[in-house]
Amino acid sequence: MPLPQSAQRLDDRRSAAEEKDVDDQFGRRLRDLRISVIDRCNFRCDYCMPMETYGEDYSFLDPDHYLSFDEIERLVRLFSRRGVRKIRITGGEPLLRPNLDELIDKISGVQGIEDIALTTNGYLLEDQASALADAGLHRVTVSLDALDPELYREMNGVGKGPEPVLDGIEAADEAGLEPIKINTVVRRGINDESVLPLVRHFRGTGRIVRFIEYMDVGTRNGWDRSEVVPSAELKDRISDAFPIDPLDSNYPGEVANRYAFTDGTGEIGFVSSITNPFCGDCTRARLSTEGTLYTCLFANEGEDFRSLLRDEASDAAILDQIDAVWGRRDDRYSEERTEEGEQSDERIEMYQIGG
Ligand code: GTP
Ligand code: 5AD
Ligand code: SF4
Ligand code: SF4
Repeated sequence: MPLPQSAQRLDDRRSAAEEKDVDDQFGRRLRDLRISVIDRCNFRCDYCMPMETYGEDYSFLDPDHYLSFDEIERLVRLFSRRGVRKIRITGGEPLLRPNLDELIDKISGVQGIEDIALTTNGYLLEDQASALADAGLHRVTVSLDALDPELYREMNGVGKGPEPVLDGIEAADEAGLEPIKINTVVRRGINDESVLPLVRHFRGTGRIVRFIEYMDVGTRNGWDRSEVVPSAELKDRISDAFPIDPLDSNYPGEVANRYAFTDGTGEIGFVSSITNPFCGDCTRARLSTEGTLYTCLFANEGEDFRSLLRDEASDAAILDQIDAVWGRRDDRYSEERTEEGEQSDERIEMYQIGG
């Protein structure tokens, strides 16, 4: 039965005042919210949005279905009351969302949010870096799978060269969006020869390259375990050329394992979700462009928060829903994959949830 209006308002005020941490079924605390702001991308990497499937006729979400910036800000405010301290903006390609700096400005005003990062392919970064930094973005992570122009053009599926991305990284540096991280997904036989050139290029620049084991996210990439290059193998290859030593994590549950070059020229990282899953510390919730909340990168269903927002649900009702969803969470997909072999369930696509 709905509460009478006056009682509802009281209830809202009580919830609004209440701040608490929420734990899932395995005692993992909610801490990070990754927000996808658009499902479109200007690239067609074949492990994410292969051109055969995502050609001109593919229908992406209608912009009316995107959460608005006000809706996102409201959710961030409510999630911060449930312990979220870190926001990562993702896509698709988030820099395609018009006026993204306005969203950053709104989020940076939310009490409790300590870290606002953005994951981008970097192609549009040069023009936007300084506006994003002025709006309150703290740092960027740029996806870059190869430096070789020919290979880069082939991998992004649209024939674009890497120069604008390198310029975007420079612009991000000038705008103070540090530390700048470079994400490289490594696939055997495709770009594993790019690993050493990337290390060589970014060593000594302050940028942190992280090599990511190719994962079976989504359903469209025909993932094959033989293409995964285990981080241990990469570590050996890199340390033969440039000796490295392990570093402590920056924070509990950090996804990448960090290593420093022994000659003091910086650090690199490895994200090993296939050979060394990290579900045990996973504190991340993911919000899709249309406002569905997923509690795992490999989830096959989520919880619709957009309807709550558009049906004018009270803050208390939305907070209750966050508590309920996180409270029943028992996802540990990557660990289960390791224990039980590959899973073939339907699941959310990478470009809908941003990694
Ligand atoms: P930092 O805040 O800089 O530590 O970022 P991050 O490493 O948490 O985020 P980023 O988006 O750069 O992630 C690096 C890689 O790890 C990407 O390929 C992600 O898809 C993958 N990744 C991030 N979070 C998860 C996760 O919860 N599960 C799995 N399996 N992979 C993840
Ligand atoms: N495996 C690992 N990482 C992936 N990414 C996209 N698809 C995959 C995959 N199948 C990465 C992108 C980006 C980040 C958000 O996720 O390259 O760096
Ligand atoms: Fe490539 Fe990232 Fe775009 Fe997917 S979202 S097609 S991985 S650039
Ligand atoms: Fe978290 Fe799911 Fe990734 Fe495990 S597989 S770390 S539960 S998002």
